[in-house]
Amino acid sequence: MFEVILIAVIGLGCLSIVWWTLKIGISPMPSSTKACCAILKVSEEALAGTIIDLGSGWGTLVFALARKYPDRQIIGYELSGLPWVYTMIYKTMFCFKNVTIYRQDFLNTPLPEASLLVCYLFPKGMIDLQRKLIGEPCPGSMLISSTFALPDSRAIKTIQLDDLYRTSIYVYQ
Ligand SMILES: C[S@@+](CC[C@H](N)C(=O)[O-])C[C@H]1O[C@@H](n2cnc3c(N)ncnc32)[C@H](O)[C@@H]1O
Repeated sequence: MFEVILIAVIGLGCLSIVWWTLKIGISPMPSSTKACCAILKVSEEALAGTIIDLGSGWGTLVFALARKYPDRQIIGYELSGLPWVYTMIYKTMFCFKNVTIYRQDFLNTPLPEASLLVCYLFPKGMIDLQRKLIGEPCPGSMLISSTFALPDSRAIKTIQLDDLYRTSIYVYQ
């Protein structure tokens, strides 16, 4: 009986991930260790203040940032159910008091004031994000985007990682 329940739960979890991946257009693939380290390093150039991960997935970046900046608020937005539940459990288990993760579409939510936005999205997501940032400018804040560039803005810095995919990290002010 236990095995049947376990298989049903795992099956539903997998189905949920597939469903949200098809709906949003990207899976909750976590940032690689190299990308994460590069983003943490560049984050030192941002002003002090709240940090937001636009699409926080399994929380790889959110928790790495929360460890690095224990005195700053780290906010994640995530639509996919299972990764969101995982991050809520992780946050509670490891007592991350400076982390808040909303199960919301960041495109349809007014973002709180932040000094740094980070994201690892996909081409259509970057077009939508650019549109949002034009309508809702955050003066003084920095955006670090892994892998995909904003279509209509020039990065102040681009870092190319020496990984298999030659991943680019784009920095915007
Ligand atoms: C490639 S993952 C990156 C996860 C995490 N930021 C990291 O670097 O490890 C992208 C995540 O963004 C989420 N996402 C994409 N568009 C979103 C939106 N508009 N609102 C909330 N979450 C979104 C996806 O569900 C996915 O989990």
